[in-house]
Amino acid sequence: SQAASPLQQVSEPSGYSNDECAAMDWDNLGFGLKPTDYMYSMKCYDDQIFKKGQLCRYGKIELSPSAGILSYGQGIFEGLKAYRKKDGQIVLFRPDQNAIRMKVGAERMCMPYPSTEQFIEAVKQTTRANKRWVPPPGKGSLYIRPILMGSGPVLGLAPASEYTFLAFASPVGNYFKEGLAPLNLYVEDEFHRATPGGAGGVKSISNYAPALKALGRATNRGFSDVLYLDSVNKKYVEEVSTCNIFIVKDNVISTPATNGTILPGVTRKSIIEIARDYGYRVEERSIPLDELLASEEVFCTGTAVVVAPVGSVTYQDRRIEFKTDARPVCSELYSALVGIQTGLIQDNKGWTVEI
Ligand code: COI
Repeated sequence: SQAASPLQQVSEPSGYSNDECAAMDWDNLGFGLKPTDYMYSMKCYDDQIFKKGQLCRYGKIELSPSAGILSYGQGIFEGLKAYRKKDGQIVLFRPDQNAIRMKVGAERMCMPYPSTEQFIEAVKQTTRANKRWVPPPGKGSLYIRPILMGSGPVLGLAPASEYTFLAFASPVGNYFKEGLAPLNLYVEDEFHRATPGGAGGVKSISNYAPALKALGRATNRGFSDVLYLDSVNKKYVEEVSTCNIFIVKDNVISTPATNGTILPGVTRKSIIEIARDYGYRVEERSIPLDELLASEEVFCTGTAVVVAPVGSVTYQDRRIEFKTDARPVCSELYSALVGIQTGLIQDNKGWTVEI
């Protein structure tokens, strides 16, 4: 058995009142967009420095038809969540990590980027302005979507001369229609998500539309999502269209190493740290598909997805089912992570940031 959890359960006074939330059906939140009140915007011109941004009403934006993002996909995005705790406090989960990932992605895509302080301030202001859309405790979260794009006009292939940062928000519940039920993944054997030297390791907008075809084919057949293999050997597991993947065997937790083709998920990183705190050995390495198929537990992690158990993986005509009754590692780590995010477990790590 594993070492005792170093994290303590906290019981907080209930300082939250229903009146603080917008009137909507908080019990049936999926991951569809529910427009909120405000968004945040800031711009950067030739000097590559982002000017002070501002909140504006959520709505359509004006964009040149020749904006770099439209023809050449010069854009990256982020996703992070704010939770309403029982005491009424609203906290963001590790916004600094998203700021850092945006910076790394911006460098890869030849874009200037907001400082970490500017990024966090933008996200805090977006959350504060849309406070009534942060779901009641335990009902979900406010998902914040920061976007950085080349908004200046270009014709030939070149970096844009103007950049726009936007952040908008939407209340969300479970990502998959399965809710918290186990996912059924389909191993994609025609398309690849990323290639060595490409942009798979950053949250570029260009990584997502190419995944739609395989995703559509799989969901039409009843699968929850697609699991990608590496494009060189077509043998090692990489990630799912929407999240990272982990396997468990003999109390060892393994996940593909972030070698440039895997998105360095903030949830992935947090789960690795929590699992090590709980006494598990965690390995970041290449994982052959055969090893995944022979593992005891498989689960996915992501900001939108959180920590989701996998019930089956289908490769060509072979469907492997994983134990659906007892999934001790996945549920232990899920509870630990969500406990910190929602304030049910004391945050000794400084991961939650009050808005
Ligand atoms: C996230 O988890 O925040 C993402 O951006 C994944 C996206 C497919 C919803």
